[in-house]
Amino acid sequence: MNQSNIIKKDLSNLPVKPNLNNYDKAYSEIKWQELEKNVDFFEDGTLNIAYNCIDRHALSSHKKNKTALLFESSTGEKETYTYLDLYKSTNKFANVLDNLGVEKGDRVFIFLPTIPERYTVFLGILKLGAIAGTMFAAFQEMALLDRLADSEAKIVVTNAVLYPRIEKIWKDLPNLEKIIIIERGSVDQPKGEKIIYYNHEMEKASEEFEAVHMQKDDPSYMLYTSGTTGKPKGVVHSHKDIVSAIATTKYVLDLQENDIYWCTADLGWVTGVVYGVLGIFGLGGTTVAFEGKFSAENWYKILQDYRVSIWYTAPTAIRMLMGSEIKPKEYNLESLRFLGSVGEPLNPEGVWWGLEEFGLAFHDTWWQTELGSISITNFQALDIKPGSMGKPFPGVYGAIIDDEGKELTPNEEGNLALKKDTVYSLMIGIWNNKAKFDSYFNGQWYISGDRAYKDEDGYFWFVGRADDVIKTSGERVGPFEIESALVEHEKVVEAGVIGIPDDLRGEIIMAFVVLKPEIGESEELKEELKMFVKGKLAGHAYPRKIKFIKKLPKTRSGKIMRRLLKAHELGLPEGDTSTLEDY
Ligand code: PRX
Repeated sequence: MNQSNIIKKDLSNLPVKPNLNNYDKAYSEIKWQELEKNVDFFEDGTLNIAYNCIDRHALSSHKKNKTALLFESSTGEKETYTYLDLYKSTNKFANVLDNLGVEKGDRVFIFLPTIPERYTVFLGILKLGAIAGTMFAAFQEMALLDRLADSEAKIVVTNAVLYPRIEKIWKDLPNLEKIIIIERGSVDQPKGEKIIYYNHEMEKASEEFEAVHMQKDDPSYMLYTSGTTGKPKGVVHSHKDIVSAIATTKYVLDLQENDIYWCTADLGWVTGVVYGVLGIFGLGGTTVAFEGKFSAENWYKILQDYRVSIWYTAPTAIRMLMGSEIKPKEYNLESLRFLGSVGEPLNPEGVWWGLEEFGLAFHDTWWQTELGSISITNFQALDIKPGSMGKPFPGVYGAIIDDEGKELTPNEEGNLALKKDTVYSLMIGIWNNKAKFDSYFNGQWYISGDRAYKDEDGYFWFVGRADDVIKTSGERVGPFEIESALVEHEKVVEAGVIGIPDDLRGEIIMAFVVLKPEIGESEELKEELKMFVKGKLAGHAYPRKIKFIKKLPKTRSGKIMRRLLKAHELGLPEGDTSTLEDY
């Protein structure tokens, strides 16, 4: 890479000295054992995420009245919560669950928009030692059923607007004992024997609760994510993850005492859990939470009005902002001092645009739901090569390996892998699926499923996925889920689904659909199928492009060859087709 294409960091020019100011030194010296010191363990060696996020701050005289949460609703109402407020509310909610008979290890799922109660509920569940499952408010019945049935969730916390989607599938959820409705903003509350109301229960609950002592590897939260085959899998994380959430928020996102922080990710995504809650509260910082929709105007206004200094967002949003007629310079964004990006490849143009418009480059960060925290990343104190994901976080060993597990030489493309023992927050399991969990590993390596290379300076560069997983607007979508939804339509025989490149969303979902013989092809039917999938899965998980075909390419064992669909669509070489059935 030409030196002029590198963004050189001059530390003497930064308004604040970074928490990590020498990458090489930090990489050789910092050990996970050392980073554990940022966390409070109980005397018996156990810990609790919620205690570390809330209680220890609320119980300290200098932090208890500090603002933890600055909330703005979709209609512009503002609310502020201190650490002491969240201490009381999470204690109460833990008591509410306790009174309902929820026990350590039980699954309690959250199906809510971004409202303050979502934070209380999430942390209250963890405080009690139950497992918190998070979901997007955009999910529809099939996505909900997959998750709630597989996890055998005991309680779901939702609101009156979203409740009807659960009501429809409740009959198929024998383990779901109660639904807690958060009354905020709604007049007509659903009624039922097994429905209870949040405010009503919270009023009665005690403000005293002692966080349950959890072993480092006891489960804390779980999140369903998509792979190539089958339904979404429940990735389970543990209480010790608070260590790496805090360490990466401190050393990568560079959070310091007076920062105002905004991670734009939803709690339904791992970024919203780890960087929307764990890291920021773990460090006793102040975060913004915005319920409203994305628009350049809304977002710039939040950044301006709350004087956000650290902003962690995603490439699709960055590209949408780049394409907007509304420009950052129309706002006063002088408080910003660090920008981060996650979830999909950040094109170099995005990095340069940041520099041009905000005077700050976006720092690309790479990780996965399974990894639990930022693993390869750009740092405030490290030169940026735009387009590169950066270097491993101290303590993490990342490499490019071949299929046998041998490390490749610089600039050779291969499998992006991490030494499994060096990923502190690695998932502790896949819910009810040991075989799937085991399939991630090859000896000492955790295999990410991404293809990448490492250059001679140790910077990692993303090439693509090794499998059929689709990344659309940063969301991970499994083709099988879309195919399953499509075949439920009465006019469809079968479907094959792939991701195709898109300038804005990274990839969009495309479906090849085989119709029943008597059904005629039409543009209206394409729209109908799109709406059908949207109504079953979620607003983002539907095929934006549909093509009707007579037959799908399949292996002799009947597996859809999505690789071939992609090759045909994009005019790429077909590769090995020896396993193909007659097509
Ligand atoms: O393909 C990589 C892509 O997102 C995948 C992980 O998806 P998910 O678990 O939903 O991510 C959770 C939050 C990180 C990866 O296997 N990905 C993630 N970050 C990047 C990325 N691809 C390129 N560059 C990134 N910075």
